[in-house]
Amino acid sequence: MRNKKKYTLSASIICADFMNLKANVGELERAGIDSIHFDVMDGLFVPRYGLFPEIITQIRSFSRLPIEAHMMVRNSENYLRLFINSGLNQPNDVFIVHTEATYQLKKILRKIRAYGIKAGVAVNPSTPLEVLDPIIREVDTVLLMAIKPGIVGHPLIEGTFDRITDLREKIPSDIRTTIAIDGGVSFTSAFQMMTAGSDSLVCGSQTVFNSRDTIIANTTKLRAILENTAHK
Ligand code: DX5
Ligand code: ZN
Repeated sequence: MRNKKKYTLSASIICADFMNLKANVGELERAGIDSIHFDVMDGLFVPRYGLFPEIITQIRSFSRLPIEAHMMVRNSENYLRLFINSGLNQPNDVFIVHTEATYQLKKILRKIRAYGIKAGVAVNPSTPLEVLDPIIREVDTVLLMAIKPGIVGHPLIEGTFDRITDLREKIPSDIRTTIAIDGGVSFTSAFQMMTAGSDSLVCGSQTVFNSRDTIIANTTKLRAILENTAHK
C-alpha cells in the first residue's frame, strides 16, 4: 500500500445547484477542493447534453480554481481553441479528450500543451489500457472512467480497482502523469481507489454534492475517510 500520499479532489460541477453556482463555487473553495471538473457532452458520443464553454467564462469571473474540461464529445479537437478563448487557459487547467472519440491523439495532445495548459486523456471502462502506450509521455493526466461516461450516479464498474493498479504500473517512473478517477466515487469506494494507485478523484453526486449535507461537511467527511484510513 502507498503510504500517506498526497491526493487531489476535483468537484464535478455538473452536480452543482446551477441556480446557486457562484455560492457553490465559493463553498468548494472554502472546502479546499483542488479543481473543478467540467463535463462537456454532445448527445452523440454520450446520450445526454452537458455543460458549455460560456459557463467557464462565468466561473472565471469569480474564481481562480483550476478547471478540467472533460470532453465527452466527438471530435473534441475542433473545440480546443473555443475553450481556451472561453477561459480554460491557466497553467493548471486541463483539456481532457477521450481516446475513443479522437483522431490523431498525439497531435491534439501536443496542441493542448502548446497552449500552456495540461493535456488529459480519458479512457472508457471497456477500452484496453494499451491505447495509452504510444501517447503516455504526451499526457499530464489520465482520467480513468469507473462508470459509463455521461451517466451521473451510475454504479461503479467491477474491476475498476485492478484497472487503476494496472494503469499505475504502465506509467513510466520518470514522468509525472497523474491518474484521476471519474464516476462512482463514494464514501465507500474512495479509499480503495486511492490505495489502488490513483492521485485524484472526481467527486460528484455521491460525495461533495451529496444532497444530504453541505459541500463543506461532505468534503470534510471524505477527507477524514481518505486520511484516517491512509494511516492503517
Ligand atoms: C460522468 C461524469 C462525472 C460525473 C460523476 O460521465 O463525467 O463527472 O458527474 O459521477 P457521479 O456523480 O456519479 O460520481
Ligand atoms: Zn467527467
